[in-house]
Amino acid sequence: MQQEKLLALFGELSLEEKIGELFQVPPFFFDGGNATGPAEEMGICSEDIRVAGSCLSLIGAQKLAQVQKLHMENHPHHIPMLFMADIINGYRTVFPIPLAQGCTFDPDMTEKCAAIAARESAASGIHVTFSPMVDLVRDARWGRVMESTGEDPYLNGLMAAAMVRGYQGQDREHIGRGKVAACVKHFAGYGAPDGGRDYNTVELSERTLRQDYLPGYQAAIDAGAALVMTSFNTLDRVPSSANAWLMRQVLRKEMGFDGVLISDWAAIQELIAHGIAEDALQAASLAMNAGVDIDMATPVYIKNLKALVESGRVSEALIDEAALRVLMLKNKLGLFENPYKDASEADEQSILMCESHREAARSCAEKTFVLLKNEEALLPLNPEETVAFIGPYVDSRFISGAWSIFGDDDSCVTLREGVKCMVPGARAVFAPGCTLIDPGVEIVGFQKNPPRETLDPETALAEAVRLASTADKVVLVLGEPRDYSGECASRSELTLPKCQMKLLEQVCEVNPKVCVVLFNGRPLDLRQVSEAAQAVLEAWLPGTEGGSALARVLYGLESPSGKLSMSMPYCVGQVPVYYNHMRTGRPLLGDYRTTKFCSQYLDIPNEPLYPFGYGLSYTSFAYSGVTLDRASLHKGETLRASIRVTNTGTRTGTETVQLYIQDVAGSVTRPVRELKGFRKLTLAPGESGQVTFDITEQMLRFYTISGDYASEPGTFRIFIGPDSRAEQQAQFTLT
Ligand code: GLC
Repeated sequence: MQQEKLLALFGELSLEEKIGELFQVPPFFFDGGNATGPAEEMGICSEDIRVAGSCLSLIGAQKLAQVQKLHMENHPHHIPMLFMADIINGYRTVFPIPLAQGCTFDPDMTEKCAAIAARESAASGIHVTFSPMVDLVRDARWGRVMESTGEDPYLNGLMAAAMVRGYQGQDREHIGRGKVAACVKHFAGYGAPDGGRDYNTVELSERTLRQDYLPGYQAAIDAGAALVMTSFNTLDRVPSSANAWLMRQVLRKEMGFDGVLISDWAAIQELIAHGIAEDALQAASLAMNAGVDIDMATPVYIKNLKALVESGRVSEALIDEAALRVLMLKNKLGLFENPYKDASEADEQSILMCESHREAARSCAEKTFVLLKNEEALLPLNPEETVAFIGPYVDSRFISGAWSIFGDDDSCVTLREGVKCMVPGARAVFAPGCTLIDPGVEIVGFQKNPPRETLDPETALAEAVRLASTADKVVLVLGEPRDYSGECASRSELTLPKCQMKLLEQVCEVNPKVCVVLFNGRPLDLRQVSEAAQAVLEAWLPGTEGGSALARVLYGLESPSGKLSMSMPYCVGQVPVYYNHMRTGRPLLGDYRTTKFCSQYLDIPNEPLYPFGYGLSYTSFAYSGVTLDRASLHKGETLRASIRVTNTGTRTGTETVQLYIQDVAGSVTRPVRELKGFRKLTLAPGESGQVTFDITEQMLRFYTISGDYASEPGTFRIFIGPDSRAEQQAQFTLT
């Protein structure tokens, strides 16, 4: 619809209709849907529903067409609703969790997965996805690390922009066929809760917020994200949904966001629980004055804004700007011309989980696996060897992440099926070995939890040990249940269940040739696993084609190439741990056991067990020294750093060559290093490749002591290598 026509329609709307655009109906109002937040008696009446602007978590072409048709017949101006849902890592075809996708260091792959998710969900009638989640994460206790792409602002920004492009396409004016609007979340700083406990207080300096946490959101906004979602947490003791500085000054004025700002589920109502609103009336006033356009899934706006306008506590102009933004989003989606957009039962039949989508899921999953250890080249497996696949994940279909709420677990490929299908001649035996979680432990998840196995623990363990003792090699398939991560799934420990550790111990006693494969949604404490096993492969939660992808990598049909997007801590006591930390005035330069008066622990090292950017291959790579084409860099110039990488092994492999830069001294303290670039290189045995990085003054900018975003002259060190521990190879001066 032309803008002037839209404005003319807008001009006809009553105050009630404009407020209705700001009301999002919770899913259970129509037929249940997938409630993901607190569901409580709401007192919403049919008149409220009549003017509602959007609906949450309803899916299905036929269902949404029915709901839309009825809604438009009842609406005084026949304005269509927006249908929004959490399509986080795929719709019906489920991709690896975002934390795993971060390990690919392949934004193009993530963009492809997001485009498939958009195509599938659009066919089911969805208009908006609540993705990408770009919250920077440094604390593995927090369950939602699975939903982020990790601990690095640069990588997060690339991944966030890739997801937005995949969901929305490149057209900034229209969100066209097979595309959905992207909603970047959770603004802001949600990933840094005290104690790693979900929804808890966040204490960040403004400088740290701007330097480390905002870049991910900015990248998504720059890529055209049509919506932003507020976060549940406070910043500087102000809940985001009432934070006018954060929303109107930072998000809108400084970051240039002009789209729709939606609250998280009930986050406006929760201003009362936070203790900054006495009641819903005050909560509505705070949120609207802060600039929150849509009230997700509660009636706070629909029940209070009219009175606030009539009493003069809220300007009708604020209602107008919010409601107009919602109508402009509907127009961008073409809903006034076609309120059903791409909803099509025929398309649902033909494209949901079609072979090409499954192939993309398999290809993506293969690239997410991170080889953490591989002594004596235990991997890849040889089909001629007898391999005992043992563990509670051997036959599990629950290998999709906690947010795979529209996936189909029954369609997930188990590891056993993957081996049988991808390596038909493999001599393999299979056994569960133990239950997934310790007996008596209950998981409160919002997904269909795995049925509790009816294993007799002793019998299962005895069978597993017998198989292990006669096999050439053992692949132990362990991990967390998928609902041990995700929303409201914080853990105080990062270890595997005791029953799994007992299985590991007893299997290793009878056969030293053990590879542990892990299915988990967060970094874990892998000290004992790494000590006991000859090989360790991190598989995360790989989604629909997890079993096939894993079989292909274990048997060497694909070589592992993943690099950790988040540090694996030495133990939970070390958390939060991340590579781009500050030096402190007393950096620990030696061994913590023989040093004193440094920033150190008495009982553990400072370094994580496996660092950001780390991952092995089935081959090996050698790095030459770095050459710079100049020793100093002036503003407006480019400094070129070059390095040679050689495949010194016997198999073709893909290496992610990483560039880190350290600002040796700044007007504020600077991280020991920061990721500033990476290149993926696939080399055959003996082959070498030249990698160059162009370094500019813009790459060296940061929030200085004056608060400006600028570079400062001085010395910079360059580290290029296979992970964030890369040795220093060069330095230059910025003049
Ligand atoms: C949840 C989550 C948010 C999600 C929303 C809708 O509470 O915090 O990420 O998009 O509600 O399901």
